[in-house]
Amino acid sequence: MKPAQRIAELRELIVQYNEAYFTHDAPLVPDADFDALVRELKALEEANPDLLEVDSPSQRVGGALSVVFSPVTHAEPMLSLDNVFDVDELVAWADRACKGLDLEPAFLRFAVEPKIDGLALSIRYENGTLVQAATRGDGRVGEDVSDNVRTISNVPKRLPNGAPNLVEVRGEVFLAKSDFEQLNARQRELGQKEFANPRNAAAGSLRQKDSAVSAQRPLSFLSYQLVDLGSSLALDSYLDQMDLLAQWGFLTAPEKSGELGVTAMVERSSWFETHRHDLPYDIDGVVIKVDSLAQREALGSTSRAPRWAIARKLPPEERTTKLLAIEVSIGRTGRATPYAVLEPVLVAGSTVSMATLHNQDQVALKDVRVGDTVIVRKAGDVIPEVVSAVEVKGQKRSAPWKFPSTCPECDGALERLGEESDTYCVNPACPAQQMQKIIHFASRGAMDIEGLGDQRVAQLLSEGLIKDVADLFSLEIQAVAQLEGMGELSANSLVANIQSAKERPLSKVLVGLGIRHVGPVAARELAKAFGEYSALAKAPLEILESLPGVGPIIAESVFDYMRDPESALRMDKMVKAGVTLSEPNSSEGIEQTLTGKAIVVTGGVEGYTREGAEAAIVLRGGTSPGSVSKKTFCVVVGEAPGASKVSKAEELGIPMLPASEFERLLSTGSLSPNL
Ligand code: IVH
Repeated sequence: MKPAQRIAELRELIVQYNEAYFTHDAPLVPDADFDALVRELKALEEANPDLLEVDSPSQRVGGALSVVFSPVTHAEPMLSLDNVFDVDELVAWADRACKGLDLEPAFLRFAVEPKIDGLALSIRYENGTLVQAATRGDGRVGEDVSDNVRTISNVPKRLPNGAPNLVEVRGEVFLAKSDFEQLNARQRELGQKEFANPRNAAAGSLRQKDSAVSAQRPLSFLSYQLVDLGSSLALDSYLDQMDLLAQWGFLTAPEKSGELGVTAMVERSSWFETHRHDLPYDIDGVVIKVDSLAQREALGSTSRAPRWAIARKLPPEERTTKLLAIEVSIGRTGRATPYAVLEPVLVAGSTVSMATLHNQDQVALKDVRVGDTVIVRKAGDVIPEVVSAVEVKGQKRSAPWKFPSTCPECDGALERLGEESDTYCVNPACPAQQMQKIIHFASRGAMDIEGLGDQRVAQLLSEGLIKDVADLFSLEIQAVAQLEGMGELSANSLVANIQSAKERPLSKVLVGLGIRHVGPVAARELAKAFGEYSALAKAPLEILESLPGVGPIIAESVFDYMRDPESALRMDKMVKAGVTLSEPNSSEGIEQTLTGKAIVVTGGVEGYTREGAEAAIVLRGGTSPGSVSKKTFCVVVGEAPGASKVSKAEELGIPMLPASEFERLLSTGSLSPNL
């Protein structure tokens, strides 16, 4: 192929991949493959300068603008970074910088820091106040995301006295790995789509139309550039600038360090390669910067990137491999999850031979077929997933994959329920479901029973020693000791572990029961509000719904679970076996101010729905009957009250309280401030 032809082809591909990545947050190829294409294009353009064009993607920073946010022209362009991929290239870059500065390699001082895999952001402060925050966009014009950025808790909204009148603080918006896990746990609880990786979650969260949604996402900001637009700071070192930012309350990378000389710099940059998985955020490389601002000035920048900084890219977390088969696994709720069986491939330090395909729609959307070459991704500790298929020109593909209609474990029907994207095995007796339920019950996030892993559960089930989680508590040492691979000693310790799990708090039991949509967050709310399983089991739907963090979907699921006769039987067994089923310190959240008091509410109370007001009473230990009697403690009279309730209260001499006093009644339990 002639260079001109290949250059045209590369430009087209890069523009297409760039748009998929930046505009749709949906990469088509692994980052490493993309980088390789850009490098090939640059090399060809360098070798054929007559073919270079100003609008070639090699000359642009990348990223297109979306339509939702207003454009912001950056006071100074937000440049990108050039990349190197190994130590030789890194040393070559450093040598060029030394030559440019006429310095021996041993005497140049560098800052070495993580390259956070998030989104670049520039925050402008005028007279100490945050006035605007913008994404990078194409480097020259970005998007105004000020409202959303104001909801990020670690972004200072004001700078301390003495800070310059006009500065821009630039850095990366990201989701810490643990926050990402929690966000996805929450999405799962709510039956909503999970995010593929922290970067996509951060991008989606920052570019929300509604800043209330951004506010619920645990975004963080880490700064790595101070743009002193009024040139009023007398600092001459980048690391000193970072110290100043830290004093102003910004997060800067705790792992950054100053290194004197090329050798020390290279060594430090390699440290990140071995420690990337220990960091609290995803990184896709290491950034090396010349520390002295004067030296930076002397080195200058190209239109795309500074010469005084470089990104050392770490080996990709995405790899391509062959899709050997698509199979379906059955989870504890009966959910049938398609997964890819892969030709084993090393991704992010471990061999991956299986990867999730999430659900039927995802398989169709990604259009992955048996025999395809596919991209496999592993972000942090997340389960590996198939990102997409790679088009191989001229390769014949197999037919699109069809979701099976029967369960591979029990042959029962697989059904798709209502609007959900998931398919379920609806046979409650499906052995795969039973086994997964028990494994989940014993797992670390639930009852945390040591020694009760997948294999052991499978054995206990197949030997008929247990059928349900509740049976675990009456297991006898002699019976367990008979299992293959077990002896008196290990049986003893397993049974002891199970017995000590009886004391686990109610929230852990609730997680363990695997009630649909109830994850750790909702479980804690429920346990805290009711304290005892028996109280939760009796709770009316309206009260469940009114709890913070428990919406209608979770409430209905809990309500239905509690009314299922199987649940009652299970609980009966657990109570008899001595399982505690209560939450220590549950009253910590809500003080029981109304214990034993019957309070009737009539008419509208500001800030509450009817059910909400009743729920507020019940949660504090009171009752809220629908009619007034001699036993009524008081009647709360709101907007447009019912005439019969008011006259009945008058007739019986029951105290009446204006709705404006409702909050006080809830917090003190008394009728007037003096009582
Ligand atoms: S410095 C003029 N430092 O990487 C230099 N960038 O590929 C501006 N990034 O747009 C960038 N961590 O979004 C710098 N410690 C770090 C970084 C970092 C992540 C991102 C940033 C930038 C992109 C360039």
